Amino acid sequence: MNADRPARGADTSFPARAVRTSAEPFCVERRPGAPVLLRAEPDDPVRWAFESRRALRAAVVDHGAVLARGLGLYDPILAGDVVRMLADGLMNEREAFSPRTSYTDRVYSSTRWPRGIPMCPHHELSYCDRFPAVMMFVCLSPAVLGGATVLVDSAAVLDALPASLVRRCERDGWTLVRTYNGDVGPSWAEAFGIGDRHGVEDYCRASAIEVEWGPGGQLRTRQRRPAVVRHPITGVRCWFNEIAHFSEWVFGPGARDELCDVLGPDGLPATTCFGDGTPIGWDLVDQIQQAYAANAVREPWRSGDLLIVDNIRTAHGRDPYEGPRELLVALADPTRI
Ligand SMILES: [Fe+2]
Repeated sequence: MNADRPARGADTSFPARAVRTSAEPFCVERRPGAPVLLRAEPDDPVRWAFESRRALRAAVVDHGAVLARGLGLYDPILAGDVVRMLADGLMNEREAFSPRTSYTDRVYSSTRWPRGIPMCPHHELSYCDRFPAVMMFVCLSPAVLGGATVLVDSAAVLDALPASLVRRCERDGWTLVRTYNGDVGPSWAEAFGIGDRHGVEDYCRASAIEVEWGPGGQLRTRQRRPAVVRHPITGVRCWFNEIAHFSEWVFGPGARDELCDVLGPDGLPATTCFGDGTPIGWDLVDQIQQAYAANAVREPWRSGDLLIVDNIRTAHGRDPYEGPRELLVALADPTRI
């Protein structure tokens, strides 16, 4: 097992330093169709982060996400110092689907994803037994056109979904099935950061992941997780999963059929099903995507912006864009449910 993976007992519970909602008044602007906005133009952003930390985190719990504008976080080192100051701790990413570049220790680029294709909203690493309670994004350079980070309130998604689907997900959870086929997506060694089979098996055993080795060293994994959870601080029921994001249907039936033709139905790098193994088809993925779309808020990025997202309460995705776009991402406050 990789040495940087903490033992279960050493985990940072949610959150290590509890914040009380509305503990201190924090003046944010509420705007329809956009995340709440906090304007701040401090001379010293790191000192600002130290002094504002408690109130800012309480505001994130209250609103699900806060966009801080005016901090002038144009430099990745400064941005890393600010997110480190605001977080209880930062995670190393594991079990990734697409690679990130490291700016500084545990401060990454956004994932590589085709710029012309929207990224389905999701809760980061909700398929892992240990995931970030908070996500932090800093815009170093916005796209020329589009590229907003889309935010969706997970309680609103629950309300928007058919009750029968919610009941089923709540009862059975969901399962992510990954096949490391060597062609599409990372190799298992890259995804786990572990070079030998026994190390992967140890990691998976500790993380409640089923492992199946196939011919030629192909690996298939299955991990069953809850799909609806109670927020650890507010108690709000939240849709918390990546059923749609990692579904074979995420780009629609046409793209799914093409992928199956090329890789075969058993060769897809990822798909999702109900926790009991029942397949989830296009009709349900479409309903989930519609619930996300109906409740999405967004704000065009400006250089130096900081966006803090409650990863349990709020899903994040990304609009298509044109031109270069550079975002710094930190996975903060590792936790389990
Ligand atoms: Fe993400």
